[in-house]
Amino acid sequence: MSSLTESAAWLALREHAAQLAEGSIAELFASDAQRPQRFSAEAAGLYLDYSKQHADERALQLLLALAQQQDLPGWIGRMFAGEAINQTENRAVLHVALRAPRNAPLRVDGQDVPAQVHAVLDRMAAFAEQLRSGAWLGATGRAITDVVNIGIGGSDLGPRMVCRALAAQADGPRVHFVANVDGAQLTSVLHGLEPATTLFVITSKMFTTLETMANAGAARSWLVAALGEDAVRRHCAAVSTNRAEVLKFGIDAANVFEFWDWVGGRYSLWSAVGLSIVIAIGAEGFRQLLAGAHAMDEHFRSAPLEKNLPVLLGLLAVWNRNCLASRFGSRSQVVAPYAQDLEYFVPWLQQLEMESNGKSVDRQGRPVDYATTPALWGDVGTNGQHAFFQMLHQGPAIHPVDFILPLRAAHPLQDQQRMLIANCLAQSSALMLGKSPQQVRAELQAKGLQGAALEAAVPHRVFAGNRPSNTILLPRLDAWHLGALLALYEHRTFVQSVIWNINAFDQWGVELGKQLAQSVLAAMAGDAQVSLDPSTRTLLARSGQ
Ligand code: F6P
Repeated sequence: MSSLTESAAWLALREHAAQLAEGSIAELFASDAQRPQRFSAEAAGLYLDYSKQHADERALQLLLALAQQQDLPGWIGRMFAGEAINQTENRAVLHVALRAPRNAPLRVDGQDVPAQVHAVLDRMAAFAEQLRSGAWLGATGRAITDVVNIGIGGSDLGPRMVCRALAAQADGPRVHFVANVDGAQLTSVLHGLEPATTLFVITSKMFTTLETMANAGAARSWLVAALGEDAVRRHCAAVSTNRAEVLKFGIDAANVFEFWDWVGGRYSLWSAVGLSIVIAIGAEGFRQLLAGAHAMDEHFRSAPLEKNLPVLLGLLAVWNRNCLASRFGSRSQVVAPYAQDLEYFVPWLQQLEMESNGKSVDRQGRPVDYATTPALWGDVGTNGQHAFFQMLHQGPAIHPVDFILPLRAAHPLQDQQRMLIANCLAQSSALMLGKSPQQVRAELQAKGLQGAALEAAVPHRVFAGNRPSNTILLPRLDAWHLGALLALYEHRTFVQSVIWNINAFDQWGVELGKQLAQSVLAAMAGDAQVSLDPSTRTLLARSGQ
């Protein structure tokens, strides 16, 4: 048994969860008229309703005691102070510094971090402004109309998601994204683009990532074939921590935007990795995004735990995962943004959450004896309602849902925003309340059904209910509130990792597949020494390579 699962706070929580699970969420409402007010919190313009969680005051107190026991305030302090809390890579974790004001007092290893950050931000703004104003001319003297970000993982998902979310305010060159090493993606993006008016931003922290380097090489060939070698200077920029490799690729030093090893890939959209965002919406929009995130950072750093949105979200996730889990069986976390413009939010969050917390050893390297991150998935509402919500309502396992709802429409069309809001609120209510056999029977009887036909129909129409959810309201999906929302989820991920005593900031789990891909490539190239398992060798033979 680990010290966590043997600890007083953990045991008390498990015991309380077992008692609470005997009752229902609806009963918790019945016994507390003030529940919606008492189980909600607000910060940085976001309103969190967690009253539909299967938790009561005592559960919250016990969760807060667990947070104290795991020294959550200490870990928050250490992260903001720039301590090397990513201990397996001996790195600080300072994405919060990327959105701190220019004059914030933060020195790490003798470096004035905010000054470095803002120097790069200023360069990004100036570069983007040249592109946006048409002052930047391509090799043939024409302005740039299309920018293609080539990157994968954190070097793709964050900027792709933000550019999509804020598409309504995009007024710069069109921005496209290519991640997959499957040539289909680059081919389809380049289809219809002209080399003379296209600029590539090659985004890679390491600048050695197989997919990105392959796509960058193909993009470079496309450019050079049309415009000649010299065109690379006017049509390529790079974002990386690896300046040496970037320069080797032939990118002009003036078009290189750096970031630092204390920015994790999945936390990097706030850094130069966000260059495509600045190009799409302008520097002021990007600063708004940073400011919204900073407001959430300040809240996270300073608000008492019981009113702290990321802390509450993180603790409730632990509650659902580790405390109620044994009763409800294996579960996952669903996220359903009720905004089409957030269609890439879930993929971004999947990397954030599962690459951060998909671990099975603790910080000391000991195997954990508790569940860590659940599978996280979802899709925009209302589409999800017509796809997987059936399982959420009537499947045997419980999958907690986060509903995210920007209230004001980015694209108002007649009554459609009201329909969207109504659907979102109806879903969380239905998941919680369910529908009893008595209710179903009464409804069917009212429609004239009786006897055996009635009894046969009832079980299929029953909803067990008691399925927990959070609802997060944003006044509207603008850059500031989006920044706050993203930072909220970043910190939620961190809170969970602190409770689970795992390092959320390394990702060794992606390395083995990368290594083996190199072995398979070597085998394809005829290297007979490569050792492959029999299944893989057979598949390789079948692939005709
Ligand atoms: O393979 C996972 C990963 O290492 C992510 O953590 C990262 O966001 C992605 O690859 C891309 O890495 P890079 O920016 O170095 O190309």
